[in-house]
Amino acid sequence: MDDRTILERLGAILGAAALATTADDLAPWLTDWRGRVTGSALALASPGSVAEVQAIVRLAGEAGIALVPQGGNTGMVAGGVPRPDDRAILLSLRRMHAIRSVDPADNSLTAEAGAILSAVHAAAEEHGSRFPLSLGAKDSATVGGLIATNAGGTQVLRFGPMRALTLGIEAVLPDGSLFDGLSTLRKDNRGYDLRQLLAGSEGTLGVITAASLKLVPAAPHRTVAWAGLESAEKALALLRALEAALGDAVESFELVPDAALALVLEHIPRTRAPLAGSHRWHVLIESRTANSADELRARSEAALAKALDDGLVADATIAESERQAADFWKLREVISEAERVDGMAAKHDVSVPVSAMPGFIETATAAVERQFAGARVIAFGHLGDGNVHFNVRAPAGSDDAAWFAETGDAVSRFVHDLTRDAGGSLSAEHGIGQLKLAEFERLADPARLAALRAIKRALDPRGIMNPGKLVPLANPAENP
Ligand code: FAD
Ligand code: MLT
Ligand code: ZN
Repeated sequence: MDDRTILERLGAILGAAALATTADDLAPWLTDWRGRVTGSALALASPGSVAEVQAIVRLAGEAGIALVPQGGNTGMVAGGVPRPDDRAILLSLRRMHAIRSVDPADNSLTAEAGAILSAVHAAAEEHGSRFPLSLGAKDSATVGGLIATNAGGTQVLRFGPMRALTLGIEAVLPDGSLFDGLSTLRKDNRGYDLRQLLAGSEGTLGVITAASLKLVPAAPHRTVAWAGLESAEKALALLRALEAALGDAVESFELVPDAALALVLEHIPRTRAPLAGSHRWHVLIESRTANSADELRARSEAALAKALDDGLVADATIAESERQAADFWKLREVISEAERVDGMAAKHDVSVPVSAMPGFIETATAAVERQFAGARVIAFGHLGDGNVHFNVRAPAGSDDAAWFAETGDAVSRFVHDLTRDAGGSLSAEHGIGQLKLAEFERLADPARLAALRAIKRALDPRGIMNPGKLVPLANPAENP
């Protein structure tokens, strides 16, 4: 089918208002958040209903054209943008953003794929409940994208990643059929779990159109603390000490190296360091309760005072107000933005067993610095989940572009080899997309790759769904 016919058929399905074809209209959506890949697409299609999604998927199958689902385009591995020489339709779910229902008695919320995470938070709160997953991109990331990447974020420690919070999924499969799996059942053993297959599938197995999410009881009182420490090892010991003292109340425990805080203070307006002195490492700790705010604060103070006495912590402070708590969180949530403003970085999203992470950070940082003279490591994030963003910047004062062109791939291979040697994963929470594909194929065990490809081939034999991401089919003829 030629391009003109495809565009006419898309226009007939959607109407002109929901179809963009000019370079200016397409441009903002063709480049990934970090600005590393600019793809090409014939059109940006923005369906407003499940029936329209089905019609577009059927058309793509008939025409042999690629479909690239996109939500907020905040993904970190360029999974939501086409490849540079793709012949593709970019399928935006942003118009499908309704919160279909909230059922506090069932502890569930059903939202369309384009619903933005902060809108899900607000809807749950309006009903006296809570959707606990959160991340820095919460004002743009969508339910569909969060599920398709099995996003993690800053509350995984207590509530798990998106997979653990997704009760049901409605999705259009690559043949255009509707998988109506929007149930909120807690127990359902009818064979293979298609919901969990679609979670983390990065748009390669179908288009998620809606999902039922698990809510948890509101816990309106929180203490947000900031501590300075000497080492990641002490940080993990602090987490275990706080858990012993506060139990399940500890919901977030985020590691921030001094270099990351420095980038934030340099590049992000209206930020200031919570502690007076300088520390090699910092952690942000959030604890929550539905009971007494005063009691939680007193117990948090006592636990931190003990950690100071025990030498785990060098200094610590607890936010005095919600405003200050938000300021502490901002310091953590804008690290990626500050790093982006600062320049290029080789980004690695690695996990190792939680207990091994402090040692991994120390030895891998030293190894990278030895191997690549002047390279600057910033390892930040979700220490309590055994996941940090082990990012590497070029030597100070060097030409970023030239250094990365020459050294970037070698740095990534080096970091990923160290991760494999530590029994870890090269993608803890961001997925594979386009950017991790070569490394995934280099390091994944053949049985895993073969099984993923078999699933892809079975559900999407024509290879129309997000080709070239996560599981490119071995036979290029199957890739439109
Ligand atoms: P997109 O970027 O649009 O798409 C991501 C992938 O999902 C693509 O492969 C796309 O094809 C697919 N997809 C999107 N919608 C659908 C759909 N409806 N059906 C099928 N496939 C679909 N991630 C974390 O895990 N933890 C973090 O802490 C975290 N922090 C972040 C902080 C910042 C500042 C930024 C910019 C990003 C962060 N991310 C984090 C990455 C990102 O927010 C998540 O990957 C998020 O899940 C992407 O959602 P999105 O709607 O933007 O998806
Ligand atoms: C984060 O934890 O802030 C993110 O996953 C974003 C990133 O890695 O850049
Ligand atoms: Zn993260």
